[in-house]
Amino acid sequence: MRARAERLSAATLETLLNAIDANDADTGAHVRRVATYALILAEAAGLDEATQHRIERVALFHDIGKLHGALTDIFHEGSRLTPEERRAVRTHPLRGAEVLAPLSTFYPELGKSVAAHHERWDGSGYPRGLKGRKIPLEARVVSIADSFDAITHRRRYSHARSFSAAVNAIADGKGTQFDPDLADLFLSRPVADKVESAMRRAHSPHRKNENRRHGETKSTPDITFRWRPRSRA
Ligand SMILES: [Fe+2]
Repeated sequence: MRARAERLSAATLETLLNAIDANDADTGAHVRRVATYALILAEAAGLDEATQHRIERVALFHDIGKLHGALTDIFHEGSRLTPEERRAVRTHPLRGAEVLAPLSTFYPELGKSVAAHHERWDGSGYPRGLKGRKIPLEARVVSIADSFDAITHRRRYSHARSFSAAVNAIADGKGTQFDPDLADLFLSRPVADKVESAMRRAHSPHRKNENRRHGETKSTPDITFRWRPRSRA
Protein backbone atom coordinates (compact mmCIF):
# COMPACT_ATOMS: atom_id res chain seq x y z
CA MET A 1 0.00 0.00 0.00
CA ARG A 2 2.75 2.38 0.99
CA ALA A 3 4.76 1.74 -2.16
CA ARG A 4 1.65 2.29 -4.21
CA ALA A 5 0.90 5.56 -2.42
CA GLU A 6 4.46 6.72 -3.08
CA ARG A 7 4.15 5.86 -6.75
CA LEU A 8 0.85 7.67 -6.97
CA SER A 9 2.26 10.82 -5.39
CA ALA A 10 5.29 10.77 -7.71
CA ALA A 11 3.02 10.25 -10.70
CA THR A 12 0.81 13.14 -9.59
CA LEU A 13 3.75 15.52 -9.35
CA GLU A 14 5.14 14.38 -12.67
CA THR A 15 1.74 14.90 -14.28
CA LEU A 16 1.69 18.42 -12.93
CA LEU A 17 5.14 19.04 -14.37
CA ASN A 18 4.00 17.65 -17.73
CA ALA A 19 1.12 20.13 -17.62
CA ILE A 20 3.63 22.98 -17.12
CA ASP A 21 5.71 21.71 -20.07
CA ALA A 22 2.63 21.36 -22.24
CA ASN A 23 1.48 24.88 -21.45
CA ASP A 24 4.86 26.55 -21.73
CA ALA A 25 8.07 24.63 -22.41
CA ASP A 26 10.18 27.67 -21.41
CA THR A 27 8.72 27.65 -17.92
CA GLY A 28 9.17 23.87 -17.76
CA ALA A 29 12.85 24.29 -18.59
CA HIS A 30 13.22 27.22 -16.16
CA VAL A 31 11.78 25.33 -13.18
CA ARG A 32 14.02 22.34 -13.84
CA ARG A 33 17.12 24.55 -13.94
CA VAL A 34 15.96 26.25 -10.73
CA ALA A 35 15.50 22.83 -9.11
CA THR A 36 19.00 21.81 -10.19
CA TYR A 37 20.61 24.95 -8.66
CA ALA A 38 18.42 24.83 -5.54
CA LEU A 39 19.43 21.21 -4.89
CA ILE A 40 23.13 22.06 -5.21
CA LEU A 41 22.64 24.77 -2.57
CA ALA A 42 20.47 22.55 -0.35
CA GLU A 43 23.01 19.76 -0.40
CA ALA A 44 25.88 22.16 0.35
CA ALA A 45 23.87 23.51 3.29
CA GLY A 46 23.82 19.98 4.71
CA LEU A 47 20.03 19.84 4.69
CA ASP A 48 18.55 16.40 5.25
CA GLU A 49 17.00 14.38 2.48
CA ALA A 50 13.39 15.20 3.39
CA THR A 51 14.17 18.93 3.27
CA GLN A 52 15.92 18.50 -0.07
CA HIS A 53 12.81 16.79 -1.42
CA ARG A 54 10.67 19.69 -0.22
CA ILE A 55 13.01 22.20 -1.83
CA GLU A 56 12.92 20.31 -5.11
CA ARG A 57 9.11 20.33 -5.12
CA VAL A 58 8.97 24.06 -4.36
CA ALA A 59 11.50 24.74 -7.13
CA LEU A 60 9.59 22.70 -9.70
CA PHE A 61 6.23 24.26 -8.91
CA HIS A 62 7.15 27.78 -7.80
CA ASP A 63 5.89 29.38 -11.01
CA ILE A 64 2.79 27.27 -11.55
CA GLY A 65 0.67 30.36 -10.85
CA LYS A 66 1.93 31.83 -14.14
CA LEU A 67 -0.23 29.32 -15.98
CA HIS A 68 -3.32 31.18 -14.85
CA GLY A 69 -5.39 32.41 -17.78
CA ALA A 70 -5.24 35.99 -16.49
CA LEU A 71 -1.43 35.96 -16.70
CA THR A 72 -0.45 33.80 -19.67
CA ASP A 73 -0.84 36.61 -22.22
CA ILE A 74 1.32 38.91 -20.12
CA PHE A 75 4.07 36.31 -19.76
CA HIS A 76 3.94 35.51 -23.44
CA GLU A 77 4.29 39.10 -24.61
CA GLY A 78 7.77 40.17 -25.48
CA SER A 79 7.37 43.82 -24.58
CA ARG A 80 7.96 45.68 -21.34
CA LEU A 81 5.25 45.37 -18.73
CA THR A 82 2.84 48.21 -17.96
CA PRO A 83 2.29 49.02 -14.25
CA GLU A 84 -1.04 47.22 -14.41
CA GLU A 85 0.56 44.12 -15.92
CA ARG A 86 3.26 44.25 -13.29
CA ARG A 87 0.58 44.23 -10.58
CA ALA A 88 -1.04 41.22 -12.25
CA VAL A 89 2.29 39.39 -12.40
CA ARG A 90 2.69 39.89 -8.67
CA THR A 91 -0.38 37.71 -8.08
CA HIS A 92 1.35 34.58 -9.41
CA PRO A 93 2.77 33.31 -6.08
CA LEU A 94 -0.68 33.20 -4.45
CA ARG A 95 -2.31 31.84 -7.60
CA GLY A 96 0.29 29.08 -7.52
CA ALA A 97 -0.49 28.28 -3.89
CA GLU A 98 -4.19 28.08 -4.81
CA VAL A 99 -3.48 25.63 -7.62
CA LEU A 100 -1.48 23.45 -5.23
CA ALA A 101 -3.96 23.67 -2.32
CA PRO A 102 -5.40 20.15 -2.83
CA LEU A 103 -1.91 18.74 -2.22
CA SER A 104 -1.57 20.51 1.14
CA THR A 105 -2.60 17.46 3.19
CA PHE A 106 0.33 15.56 1.72
CA TYR A 107 2.80 18.42 1.21
CA PRO A 108 1.90 21.08 3.77
CA GLU A 109 4.98 23.18 2.95
CA LEU A 110 4.45 23.33 -0.78
CA GLY A 111 1.76 25.98 -1.12
CA LYS A 112 3.23 28.14 1.66
CA SER A 113 6.68 28.14 0.14
CA VAL A 114 5.42 28.70 -3.41
CA ALA A 115 3.44 31.68 -2.08
CA ALA A 116 6.64 33.00 -0.47
CA HIS A 117 9.13 32.65 -3.33
CA HIS A 118 9.15 36.42 -4.04
CA GLU A 119 9.47 37.45 -0.40
CA ARG A 120 12.71 39.22 0.46
CA TRP A 121 14.91 38.80 3.51
CA ASP A 122 14.46 42.50 4.48
CA GLY A 123 10.66 42.26 4.33
CA SER A 124 10.23 44.30 1.13
CA GLY A 125 9.04 41.39 -1.01
CA TYR A 126 5.57 40.19 -1.90
CA PRO A 127 2.83 39.10 -1.36
CA ARG A 128 3.02 39.31 2.44
CA GLY A 129 6.20 41.22 3.19
CA LEU A 130 7.54 38.33 5.30
CA LYS A 131 10.93 38.99 6.83
CA GLY A 132 14.02 36.87 7.59
CA ARG A 133 13.39 33.40 8.93
CA LYS A 134 9.64 33.98 8.77
CA ILE A 135 10.13 33.14 5.08
CA PRO A 136 10.14 29.34 4.78
CA LEU A 137 13.62 27.91 4.27
CA GLU A 138 12.50 26.19 1.06
CA ALA A 139 11.43 29.53 -0.41
CA ARG A 140 14.71 31.21 0.65
CA VAL A 141 16.75 28.56 -1.16
CA VAL A 142 14.56 28.66 -4.27
CA SER A 143 14.63 32.46 -4.37
CA ILE A 144 18.42 32.47 -4.86
CA ALA A 145 18.28 29.73 -7.51
CA ASP A 146 15.40 31.50 -9.27
CA SER A 147 17.20 34.86 -9.39
CA PHE A 148 20.36 33.18 -10.63
CA ASP A 149 18.47 31.56 -13.49
CA ALA A 150 16.53 34.72 -14.33
CA ILE A 151 19.85 36.50 -14.88
CA THR A 152 21.79 33.78 -16.68
CA HIS A 153 19.06 32.51 -18.96
CA ARG A 154 17.57 34.58 -21.73
CA ARG A 155 13.83 35.03 -21.36
CA ARG A 156 11.30 36.65 -23.60
CA TYR A 157 11.63 39.95 -21.86
CA SER A 158 15.33 40.09 -21.03
CA HIS A 159 18.72 39.03 -22.35
CA ALA A 160 20.93 36.56 -20.58
CA ARG A 161 23.83 37.98 -18.65
CA SER A 162 26.99 36.22 -17.61
CA PHE A 163 27.65 33.93 -14.69
CA SER A 164 29.69 36.66 -13.00
CA ALA A 165 26.86 39.19 -13.41
CA ALA A 166 24.57 36.72 -11.64
CA VAL A 167 27.11 36.12 -8.89
CA ASN A 168 27.42 39.90 -8.38
CA ALA A 169 23.64 40.26 -8.21
CA ILE A 170 23.42 37.56 -5.52
CA ALA A 171 26.24 39.27 -3.59
CA ASP A 172 24.44 42.63 -3.89
CA GLY A 173 21.19 41.12 -2.65
CA LYS A 174 22.76 39.38 0.33
CA GLY A 175 20.92 40.45 3.49
CA THR A 176 18.40 42.55 1.55
CA GLN A 177 16.83 40.23 -0.99
CA PHE A 178 18.46 36.97 0.09
CA ASP A 179 19.16 35.06 3.30
CA PRO A 180 22.77 36.17 3.98
CA ASP A 181 23.99 32.72 5.09
CA LEU A 182 22.50 30.99 2.06
CA ALA A 183 23.84 33.71 -0.25
CA ASP A 184 27.34 33.30 1.24
CA LEU A 185 27.14 29.57 0.73
CA PHE A 186 25.93 29.98 -2.86
CA LEU A 187 28.86 32.32 -3.56
CA SER A 188 31.43 30.06 -1.90
CA ARG A 189 33.90 28.56 -4.35
CA PRO A 190 32.82 24.90 -4.35
CA VAL A 191 29.12 25.72 -4.63
CA ALA A 192 29.57 28.43 -7.26
CA ASP A 193 31.74 26.04 -9.30
CA LYS A 194 29.07 23.33 -9.20
CA VAL A 195 26.36 25.81 -10.13
CA GLU A 196 28.45 27.13 -13.01
CA SER A 197 29.02 23.68 -14.48
CA ALA A 198 25.33 22.79 -14.06
CA MET A 199 24.50 26.04 -15.84
CA ARG A 200 26.85 25.26 -18.72
CA ARG A 201 25.36 21.78 -19.05
CA ALA A 202 21.82 23.20 -19.01
CA HIS A 203 22.66 25.81 -21.64
CA SER A 204 24.63 23.50 -23.89
CA PRO A 205 23.06 23.37 -27.35
CA HIS A 206 24.03 19.70 -27.54
CA ARG A 207 21.75 18.73 -24.70
CA LYS A 208 18.22 18.60 -25.92
CA ASN A 209 15.57 17.29 -23.64
CA GLU A 210 12.65 14.98 -23.77
CA ASN A 211 10.71 17.63 -25.67
CA ARG A 212 12.49 16.25 -28.68
CA ARG A 213 9.74 13.71 -28.87
CA HIS A 214 7.44 16.59 -29.72
CA GLY A 215 9.84 17.86 -32.34
CA GLU A 216 10.98 20.73 -30.14
CA THR A 217 14.51 21.59 -29.25
CA LYS A 218 14.33 23.29 -25.87
CA SER A 219 17.32 22.58 -23.70
CA THR A 220 16.11 21.21 -20.39
CA PRO A 221 18.41 19.83 -17.72
CA ASP A 222 17.60 16.38 -16.50
CA ILE A 223 17.05 16.43 -12.81
CA THR A 224 16.96 13.55 -10.43
CA PHE A 225 13.26 13.76 -9.52
CA ARG A 226 14.19 12.67 -6.04
CA TRP A 227 10.55 12.30 -5.14
CA ARG A 228 10.32 9.43 -7.60
CA PRO A 229 10.37 6.11 -5.71
CA ARG A 230 13.84 4.63 -5.97
CA SER A 231 12.59 1.47 -7.67
CA ARG A 232 11.50 3.52 -10.66
CA ALA A 233 14.48 5.89 -10.78
FE1 LIG B 1 8.09 33.69 -9.67
